[in-house]
Amino acid sequence: MSKQQGELDLRQFKDQIAVITGAGNNGIGWGIAKHAALELGMHVVLVDLHMRVVDKACAQLGELAPHRKIVGVQCDVTRIEELEKVAQVVNEEISGHAIGMVFANAGVIFNKTILNSPLEDWKTTLDVNVIGVVATAKVFVPLLQRQSTESVFCSTASVGGLVRGDGGAASYQASKHAVVALTESLSFEIAKKSPQIRVCVLCPCIVSSSLMASSLVNKKASKGELDGEVRQLRPASNVFAMTPENHATQVFDLMREGKFYLVTDNVKPYVEHDYPFEASTIIRERFQNLGNLELDNSDAFVESEHGNATSILKGAMFQEIKRLNEIEN
Ligand SMILES: NC(=O)c1ccc[n+]([C@@H]2O[C@H](COP(=O)([O-])OP(=O)(O)OC[C@H]3O[C@@H](n4cnc5c(N)ncnc54)[C@H](O)[C@@H]3O)[C@@H](O)[C@H]2O)c1
Repeated sequence: MSKQQGELDLRQFKDQIAVITGAGNNGIGWGIAKHAALELGMHVVLVDLHMRVVDKACAQLGELAPHRKIVGVQCDVTRIEELEKVAQVVNEEISGHAIGMVFANAGVIFNKTILNSPLEDWKTTLDVNVIGVVATAKVFVPLLQRQSTESVFCSTASVGGLVRGDGGAASYQASKHAVVALTESLSFEIAKKSPQIRVCVLCPCIVSSSLMASSLVNKKASKGELDGEVRQLRPASNVFAMTPENHATQVFDLMREGKFYLVTDNVKPYVEHDYPFEASTIIRERFQNLGNLELDNSDAFVESEHGNATSILKGAMFQEIKRLNEIEN
């Protein structure tokens, strides 16, 4: 195994900079930002699509971590020139500190099947989720390469990027498979030349966030269909979801262990219940299918709680949701 993998001492990142895209709406990026500032002692650059959202997140983190430099930058990650401006701001406003970590985390989801989704939603999804990660890598990895100190480049895919496609968010899953593959490519591409850079791919299961809402709000805003400014959103509550804070703890625990695939399942101690998502089971199922060169569509014939068949949302957590719904009805 190259130096690029293996255990990572996170204490070395104190006083260094963490850049996190998609960090403005109290979701996964926010949890990572908070952990980076409060637990790792890093200076944080919060990036998101709308200024008001960025400002709010910056004020929140500034209050929690008054001794860290917290900088917010409005940026559309699909536009490389805007990411270059982020790099410029980092250089101007927090000069003299190494960039320790970069999280290409911004994303969107439109929860539709292939036949029911407009091409426009596919284009936006691939643009933000895939091109956004590529552009973030193209701007920041060369900066990390110039540093001799260790650093981390982490892209956010999803457990959906490791399992089979089903009847859910087809464009989302396709995009997340692409993120997994391109992050593996990036890891390979720089393994020999820049072993000081750890590359990893985050594959979360269920984390409280407003991803569906932020995707719709941003879509409306881009079409000029929103009344007023885009405001910061609060995560939708779900008793089985991880909080962004506990999720971030798991991210850094896996990173510390030197994992590449940061699959963050809904397991203790990161949640307080015994109903995991069971990512490893459905990941294994996909690879068993692949090994047999066959695709098992039997789940397509089983109606789920919401009337939609699924081959992914069927682990202990979803069995328990089903049981609770049955009691309620
Ligand atoms: N929440 C989950 O359970 C879950 C599970 C798997 C993967 N993910 C992934 O985690 C990442 C973060 O999502 P989240 O769930 O925390 O929701 P979130 O809404 O908090 O984060 C997504 C952020 O990306 C921003 N964004 C969207 N388009 C952008 C653009 N063009 N430029 C800059 N920023 C943009 C949004 O404004 C938003 O703040 C996403 O990539 C998502 O696909 C989430």
